Amino acid sequence: MEAEVLTALNPVPNGRYADGTLGMGGHTAAILRRSAPTGWVFACDRDGAALRTAEQNLAEFTGRFELKRANYATLAEHLPAGSMDGVLLDLGVSSPQLDNADRGFSFLNDGPLDMRMDDRQKKTAADLVNTEDPEVLVRLLWEFGDEPRARRIVRVISERRLERPFETTSDLAATIESVCPRAGKRKHPATRTFQALRIAVNDEIGGLRRGLDGALDVLKPGGRLAVITFHSLEDRVVKAFGRALERDYEFDGDRDIPEFRRPCQPRLKRINRKAISPGPDELKVNPRSRSAQLRVFEKI
Ligand SMILES: C[S@@+](CC[C@H](N)C(=O)[O-])C[C@H]1O[C@@H](n2cnc3c(N)ncnc32)[C@H](O)[C@@H]1O
Repeated sequence: MEAEVLTALNPVPNGRYADGTLGMGGHTAAILRRSAPTGWVFACDRDGAALRTAEQNLAEFTGRFELKRANYATLAEHLPAGSMDGVLLDLGVSSPQLDNADRGFSFLNDGPLDMRMDDRQKKTAADLVNTEDPEVLVRLLWEFGDEPRARRIVRVISERRLERPFETTSDLAATIESVCPRAGKRKHPATRTFQALRIAVNDEIGGLRRGLDGALDVLKPGGRLAVITFHSLEDRVVKAFGRALERDYEFDGDRDIPEFRRPCQPRLKRINRKAISPGPDELKVNPRSRSAQLRVFEKI
């Protein structure tokens, strides 16, 4: 969604931008090109391999960017408050992560049950599947995978892991398929479990909440935040963040009871009422973008 991101952030010379999800550097390159000759980008990724690839891809812009191996949840530790004209978060996994079987993100390519974006982290998907309390696993599959068959899947995992731990993606996928047969052309029965495990292993929802707060901190008033999500769980978090901060009142807890509202200054405004989806041309060249949703906010 490069064109839509450029429209949202409107990079200009002398502008300062942060890309919290560098990946191969495609969006960072687009921002640097549009803000030439003096625009600057701070970009981070928690995946060391992504940083190495991006550094090569960005060679022509040397001197106009800083790359850091970091979780975007810590953005505010690396950048001064109120210093950025735009922040981009393009969530989820990258194509190299999905396509490299050794990373263990995909059941289509057999590999170790890993799923860590940052390989310095200890906990892998295998650790979760082989040792986590079954009740916790059920909850993860419900919350992070919207998996209606969570109990059935966790039961078969719990029985099987007593005999032999799970080590590979295809072993886990086949075990799930043994109790949730594939119906016609519908998606693979392990899809939701894999999504849930990936989100849990990488603490994606906790990181997103911290990252959104951090992004708002580092933006200048009038600066723009663009967030691309890939599934409804992430999108709900981004939408709720926008809703809460555009209000001119706040409240404690989950329920908004008018009598208990406290007035406050709104901290951002939504630029688009509805999330922006990829156009037909992008879908043709990049079918993986079909579930992408872009939301754009402006700091007040
Ligand atoms: C969809 S890709 C980004 C693609 C990128 N916009 C480009 O143009 O190539 C998502 C990237 O974000 C990284 N990532 C995901 N969560 C992260 C986090 N919490 N902190 C830093 N990087 C993260 C992943 O490692 C992956 O490389």
